Amino acid sequence: MQQEVILSVKDLDIKFTLRGKVLHAIRNVSLDVYKGESLAIVGESGSGKSVFTKSFMGLLDGNGFIPNGEILFEGQDLAKLKKEKDWRKIRGGKIAMIMQDPMTSLNPLKTIGAQIAEAIKLHQPQVKGREAIQAKVEQYLTEVGITEPARRSRQYPHEFSGGMRQRVVIAIALACEPEILICDEPTTALDVTIQAQIIDLLKQLKEKYKLTIVFITHDLGVVANIADRVAVMYAGNFVEIGLASEIFYDSRHPYTWALLSSLPQLGQKGEDLFTIKGTPPNLFKEVVGDAFAPRNPKALTIDHMEEPPFFDVTPTHKAKTWLLDPRAPKVEPPEIIKQLKAMEVTA
Ligand SMILES: Nc1ncnc2c1ncn2[C@@H]1O[C@H](COP(=O)(O)OP(=O)(O)O)[C@@H](O)[C@H]1O
Ligand SMILES: [Mg+2]
Repeated sequence: MQQEVILSVKDLDIKFTLRGKVLHAIRNVSLDVYKGESLAIVGESGSGKSVFTKSFMGLLDGNGFIPNGEILFEGQDLAKLKKEKDWRKIRGGKIAMIMQDPMTSLNPLKTIGAQIAEAIKLHQPQVKGREAIQAKVEQYLTEVGITEPARRSRQYPHEFSGGMRQRVVIAIALACEPEILICDEPTTALDVTIQAQIIDLLKQLKEKYKLTIVFITHDLGVVANIADRVAVMYAGNFVEIGLASEIFYDSRHPYTWALLSSLPQLGQKGEDLFTIKGTPPNLFKEVVGDAFAPRNPKALTIDHMEEPPFFDVTPTHKAKTWLLDPRAPKVEPPEIIKQLKAMEVTA
């Protein structure tokens, strides 16, 4: 299947200067995002998911910088974009972001109707006049599942529950008419039933508006529900990328194995939840070998010495592990991973 690339990241490095020391947060990352797909980025907290996607919007904090690499989008390299004026053409209207805490995106002093109206005025100048704009505001509120839109549009963010606020943030994002919607753990702060509703809503809106969605989460259960493709991030780089089914049923990187094994739904009843032992590498130092090797009890000698390349598993699936080198000894995945593979056969 031939797919159109909407955003292409090539050899991207992102560093932060902190008290004279340099943290190498994103390490030589390449990734193509396809138009209309829903791509999930998963990985433990601190692996670089937010920093990576913030760089698409010029939202790195002051001490963050891109020493090399490209972020190609609609014929320009976003990694080279400096002026706020240029970023304003991208942010919202081309690439929009929904974050974990809706209050960081909402203005507590303005009604939500006014905030949606602002986005419409800025990004849909063809909609003119108070009434037409208000009608659009109410249309977006209805679309994100907020009833009584006329009354609700006059209310302030504090009058909404957490889940409803996140719906408002989604309405504002839609009003910007973006091509790509980045969802950075949008449901992490919400309770489980509300989480599921927001995920369903995003799925519907993706189809209706033909959005490309980049969905960041550390919850693989959420991934199963929304993603076409999954990219697994560890210590500032991807270690495995594939179709969601390939990552769930046929994963190849020991880090992905560990991540899947820690899924609560997969743990046996009564057993302790699997957790990944050890801590990720210190990114103030250059990483040697496979970044996951120190935490991998079955690491090969070469894992400690040389960084593995990506090996292709299928045309859509690749993993950055020496285990896929033809010369590698056979290492059995954990029992849970074998069970998953068996599930695919019967599915
Ligand atoms: N503004 C910042 N200044 C310095 N370091 C940062 C900053 N933002 C993120 N980092 C560091 O970059 C790494 C990746 O962080 P982040 O992208 O937030 O992880 P994730 O979203 O996967 O939890 C972490 O080591 C974090 O401490
Ligand atoms: Mg994050």
